[in-house]
Amino acid sequence: MAILVTGGAGFIGSNFVLDWLAQCDEAVINLDLLSYAGNLENLASLQGDGRHVFMQGDICDRALVDRLLSEHQPRALVHFAAESHVDRSISGPGAFMRTNIEGTYTLLEASRQYWSGLDDAAKAAFRFHHVSTDEVYGSLAPQDPAFAETKTYEPNSPYSASKAASDHLVRAWHHTYGLPVLTTNCSNNYGPYHFPEKLIPLMIVNALAGKPLPVYGDGQQIRDWLYVTDHAAAIRAVLASGRLGETYNIGGWNEMANIDIVKTVCTLLDELRPDPAGPYSRLITYVKDRPGHDRRYAIDARKIERELGWRPAETFASGIRKTVQWYLDHPDWIARVQSGAYRDWVSQQYGA
Ligand code: NAD
Ligand code: DAU
Repeated sequence: MAILVTGGAGFIGSNFVLDWLAQCDEAVINLDLLSYAGNLENLASLQGDGRHVFMQGDICDRALVDRLLSEHQPRALVHFAAESHVDRSISGPGAFMRTNIEGTYTLLEASRQYWSGLDDAAKAAFRFHHVSTDEVYGSLAPQDPAFAETKTYEPNSPYSASKAASDHLVRAWHHTYGLPVLTTNCSNNYGPYHFPEKLIPLMIVNALAGKPLPVYGDGQQIRDWLYVTDHAAAIRAVLASGRLGETYNIGGWNEMANIDIVKTVCTLLDELRPDPAGPYSRLITYVKDRPGHDRRYAIDARKIERELGWRPAETFASGIRKTVQWYLDHPDWIARVQSGAYRDWVSQQYGA
């Protein structure tokens, strides 16, 4: 038995693959383009492990996806691959339309063909699990209730619009063709292997380098934060027992303003790696706001709790401490990501 994972060299995908293979022996076929966000070094501990088969390639490449499905006969496809950074979607939306929309369409069509050819038992067991985001729901006012699965879609950025489009495609492939799909919409993740273009890892690596900590606008935007292995556990629960065609919201019951996140990181660094120059909060710098910046996200995760019994294992206090400690313990990973040397990892490790 095997599952096909897309985007398994990215932040959440690599945490999911590591977690999956720590929990069970079912093989993972990992299809990842190794865009700037893909880092095979995240999976270095799996070197020589026959349960992990890595294939560098594009989810838009139909022939490649067909070949992987037919060769490995996976019982599920878990789809993480995406362009994921909102700021990059604002400066260059094209890549988001291609990977997030066309890529998802390609996977759906390839999966539909593969699934149609399976015998009845394998057909009934197959799952297409689409990993999506809470950003599709839009922005909340301070007193609005948290996002339930019934919330209307109101995406505001090119990134969230492309993810919303992909969610709609997944829904349509279920409704029209009966493809057995599951969709999860998760809040902001944090943890190990997070590329330092996103808020938490950027603040950690900048602080350690004595650089400014750029806070957009007034820093009062609110996000719900979830430790990444809790997301991986939620996906496993939905894949195992989620109802076909349903969506499940995943969140940490942990709404925090950006400025409080940054101050928490500074306080932890003051404790764990004090800087003789003074408290890290001296580096906080308010900068121009993100265009169209969503003010607040919040997740109502009662459905997945009620139906599948999933709850986050980490509190924010425990998760953020582990995260800061992980970055302190991995200066080489940070250095290679910052210098771009991580992109040479494959050739360094495996030769041409
Ligand atoms: P990431 O940017 O860290 O990783 C994306 C991965 O996809 C990279 O390994 C990249 O190489 C790969 N990829 C990009 N384009 C590809 C293509 N055309 N073909 C094959 N592989 C390609 O992203 P992430 O933060 O790990 O997010 C993973 C998924 O989870 C995304 O679908 C994202 O929308 C969703 N999500 C992320 C968060 C979050 O907080 N990061 C929260 C909710 C949902
Ligand atoms: O909500 C889920 C989403 O969370 C995922 O779908 C996205 O893939 C993921 O990137 C994340 O999106 P955000 O835009 O919320 O994450 P980011 O880390 O880029 O920013 C978090 C908040 O911090 C946001 O309000 C913008 C702000 N910010 C970000 C950066 C990079 C800053 O104030 N300064 C910064 O330098």
